[in-house]
Amino acid sequence: MTGTRTLSKYWMLTNDFTQNPYPVLEYVRRESPVRELSLPDGSRAFVVTRYDDAKAALADPRLSRDIHVHYRLMSQRTGRTMTPPPEEANHLANLEPPRHTPLRRAISFAFTPRRAEALRPRVETIADDLLDKLAGRPRADLIGGYADPLPVITIAELMGVPADAWPDFLRWSAALRTYSPTDGSGALDRNIQELSRYMSELIARKEREPGEDLLSALVHADEERRLTPTEILSTGFALMTGGNDTTASLVGGVLAALLTHPAERARLLGEPGRWGASMDELIRYVSPIGNALQRVTTEPVELGGVTIPAGEVVVICVMSTNRDTAQFPHHPDRLDLDRPKPAHLSFGFGIHYCSGAHLAKVITEIAARRLFERFPDVRLAVDPAELRYQQNVVVRPLVELPVAW
Ligand code: HEM
Repeated sequence: MTGTRTLSKYWMLTNDFTQNPYPVLEYVRRESPVRELSLPDGSRAFVVTRYDDAKAALADPRLSRDIHVHYRLMSQRTGRTMTPPPEEANHLANLEPPRHTPLRRAISFAFTPRRAEALRPRVETIADDLLDKLAGRPRADLIGGYADPLPVITIAELMGVPADAWPDFLRWSAALRTYSPTDGSGALDRNIQELSRYMSELIARKEREPGEDLLSALVHADEERRLTPTEILSTGFALMTGGNDTTASLVGGVLAALLTHPAERARLLGEPGRWGASMDELIRYVSPIGNALQRVTTEPVELGGVTIPAGEVVVICVMSTNRDTAQFPHHPDRLDLDRPKPAHLSFGFGIHYCSGAHLAKVITEIAARRLFERFPDVRLAVDPAELRYQQNVVVRPLVELPVAW
């Protein structure tokens, strides 16, 4: 797209942008790649849109993920002293070194490629059980009935949550999706408290009766490596907030992409060995997250020719980097399974690189493969132009994916 356009000061927050961000992002990358965004509370953020700048920003320690830095800034901006809840204040995604390092090391054993591969049979069973429930209906929504519950159940099971609590986990994970520190809604707080209470009791139970699961391993780790009960609880929150909606967004996006690209779908189904090589292109094309988690500058930082002062919120727009022609020169707006493995930033970059990247790929491959193997004639039940995305600052899930078979 060429030419000039006028963007509102809330340009990234509009519904038009949510539904089709790419033309605006192409313009912003070209004209003002580090661009201000006004927020409804009267404050502002700086949005980074080019691949090289985003990669540099993700690796820059002056752009902090420390939740205390974020809450201090929010307190200043609102004039109200705000402190983060313990569930949010003690996990790896919300802390920087030195505390980030042992928190990350503590869970890394559970997320190696080998561990993710070993989960395949379980993920397949969970996917098949969900498909069984949908199979009897003439039409189904693959988001609510499949993409959403699949990662929640997989991650709950990985942590060691017994099956009778999975329905609660589905409810709590839906509540976490809408969580915001400035939201005063009582129902939301109640859900978070319920989840917190359940997890604390579960952690205590794992201390008495350990199983072959992640929470048991954390509770019974060697003393010098062991996290505190609050850190274990908070890590559980990180896995749920970090893993559920992101993976659901990718699963939904990949299913939609393959429903609308029959040649690519036939190729993947005909050559099952291709999934691994094609997954990064699917992730680049789908962009399961719009933006990385927000950063706050702890000192002035120059990015893309703009000096961002200290104490500013920085939004790193990952979906924009996925279409940056400087990085992906050949038609980045197309799904091209022959593209050399794209080094996309959808799992982040640097010390906060996604712990669950392998697991997310395994879940997504199985979700797509089982759906298309079991229902070879599955088709979209609406025009692709009618598919809608949810408005969210991080993830980019479809609202619904109605199919018929
Ligand atoms: C398609 C699915 C997923 C996507 C797109 C995704 C994306 C990301 C991104 C971009 C980050 C870096 C955040 C930042 O620096 O701003 C991240 C971190 C993280 N992700 Fe994922 N994620 C996915 C699935 C998962 C899963 C399945 C899990 C675990 C069950 C998980 C756990 C985490 C954790 C714990 C972190 C924090 C790592 C750290 O701070 O050191 N993610 N993820």
